[in-house]
Amino acid sequence: MNKTIGIEDFCRLLGTKKDRFPKECKQLVRDYDFTYSQLSKEERDNTLLRVIHKLNGELELSGQHRQQCWEDGWSENLNEFIKADYDLNKLVPKFVKLNEVIRYNGDYIQPNSAKFESQFVSVLRTFIIYHFFSDLDNVYEYGCGTAHNLVEFFRHYPDKDYYGLDWASSSQRIIKLLRVQLGMNIFGQHFNLYSPDKNFKIKENSGVITVGALEQMGESFMDFLDYLLEQKPSLCVHMETTYELYDQNNLFDYLSVKYLEKRGYLKGFLKRLKEFESEGKILIQGTHRTFGSLFHDGYTILVWKTL
Ligand SMILES: C[S@@+](CC[C@H](N)C(=O)[O-])C[C@H]1O[C@@H](n2cnc3c(N)ncnc32)[C@H](O)[C@@H]1O
Repeated sequence: MNKTIGIEDFCRLLGTKKDRFPKECKQLVRDYDFTYSQLSKEERDNTLLRVIHKLNGELELSGQHRQQCWEDGWSENLNEFIKADYDLNKLVPKFVKLNEVIRYNGDYIQPNSAKFESQFVSVLRTFIIYHFFSDLDNVYEYGCGTAHNLVEFFRHYPDKDYYGLDWASSSQRIIKLLRVQLGMNIFGQHFNLYSPDKNFKIKENSGVITVGALEQMGESFMDFLDYLLEQKPSLCVHMETTYELYDQNNLFDYLSVKYLEKRGYLKGFLKRLKEFESEGKILIQGTHRTFGSLFHDGYTILVWKTL
């Protein structure tokens, strides 16, 4: 039987009231197809088996050694972007799978639309743009890749300044074209999250965002966190898998924990934020587990600010 994810569901996931859910998000929820079916027992068993087989096989570890892979990946997007006469669709990363089973509400579901994952992310990102960043003058995305998130920010708020930081130089080349060819106020900057450049200052009244970038850092995020504490942005918003929010006594979550461990994905970040909060250094404003792709909930939203 078909079910659907509606405005009330998004409000519940994001911990917001319906009247505070931006009208732009409501429109997207109406326009997109968020219908899905629950899996049968057999389909669910097959999905579990597929995940377990994946965990038993070789999985590539994230880390320093993957810099060249990101460089090459974004170079491919860059070349296609140029060839297609600066078509922004060419900036969408290729790692989002079409037609795949999704993690939602504590279980696997089968969406009807092939674009379910990217459209779900689009609603979440639009919420973040309006709910958290409307009053800020500058936005900094660390680990921005092709800068497609910043392009979306720019579409809604063209008068802010945007900074896209990444260790891949192909990212900076894409951003330069966005500025020179399409007139967007997005500035690219080389930045290594493992060894943050303290001379790169965050301006006043600015927000920081990361999307699937800290994920790549395993437990080596401390220097970056110290950098943020020193720079004191007005707000930090992360859309990242969050190890501490999985319930290890639940099979569905336990498999995600094992996946994160095998890939060397983000671990200990929320724990460290909570320690900083108890030391009176920061305030955590929200942790919202929303949904995930097959292996883990990569779209959990964490919001905090320095005190
Ligand atoms: C999964 S991609 C996400 C990209 C983008 N935020 C998005 O939503 O499409 C991870 C990004 O983090 C960047 N990254 C990973 N490790 C990094 C590091 N140590 N310093 C800077 N960037 C890093 C990669 O180059 C890549 O652009």
